[in-house]
Amino acid sequence: MRLVMLAPPGAGKGTQADILARRHGVPHVETGDLLRRAIEEETPTGREARQYVESGNLVPDKIVVELIRQRLDEPDCDPGFILDGFPRTIQQANATEGMLRDLDCVLDAVVTLEVSRQEIVRRLEARRVCSECGATYHLEHDPPEQTGTCDRCGSELVQREDDRPETILQRLSQYEEKTEPLLGFYRERDLLVTVDGEQPIDAVTDAIEEEIAGRVDGISQTGDEG
Ligand code: AP5
Repeated sequence: MRLVMLAPPGAGKGTQADILARRHGVPHVETGDLLRRAIEEETPTGREARQYVESGNLVPDKIVVELIRQRLDEPDCDPGFILDGFPRTIQQANATEGMLRDLDCVLDAVVTLEVSRQEIVRRLEARRVCSECGATYHLEHDPPEQTGTCDRCGSELVQREDDRPETILQRLSQYEEKTEPLLGFYRERDLLVTVDGEQPIDAVTDAIEEEIAGRVDGISQTGDEG
């Protein structure tokens, strides 16, 4: 399975990529997470990326393309991967085509989730993430069993720096200006599948499975794994 999740901030890309990656046994490759780790570890990439991430702007293409190139070269990506948050610009989409050619593989589908602006803001303001393993929760729709504590690893849940209201609006405007044009790019290549992202989490997963059935080896038309 080689999928791209392409949708606005807070639409549920990470939530769905995580479920699908576990279910289909492929890595969930998330640029936002790779960047946040680099920032926390204060690597040269992290030091360069910090100002962009914290202000809700896109990190320069050359930095993220290199991060993804290195990640896709790792052996766990050989059977496939789910790219979450990459590509986000036409330059990144062109670079992705080159990388896939070098790896001698193709994308199966690009999944976009449709969610209204109002719902996005509601979701991001109530999102909490694990400070250790990065697991994502929502205070109302997907709360942890014990308030403030990660179900998976027991660490503290925190609010992301870029989930403040003014940064959310900047991220949305960057999406509309630089990332939305990719919908046409992938529609032209007959790779785009569109799913209603405002349904409950399980229903969104079922809808994605149904849409990608027939495009991905090993998933039957009913959405069951073969
Ligand atoms: P990144 O971390 O990728 O952030 P994003 O794209 O803004 O996406 P999010 O992680 O905020 O949202 P999501 O769609 O994954 O939603 P989630 O599943 O968490 O990027 C951060 C920054 O890094 C960027 O701003 C940029 O600076 C930089 N960056 C990253 N990639 C880059 C690139 N390629 N190029 C340049 N710069 C890059 O869900 C949100 C909330 O809703 C959660 O609380 C969840 O529990 C809840 N939820 C999910 N689904 C549902 C549902 N169906 N119903 C109800 N609640 C739901």
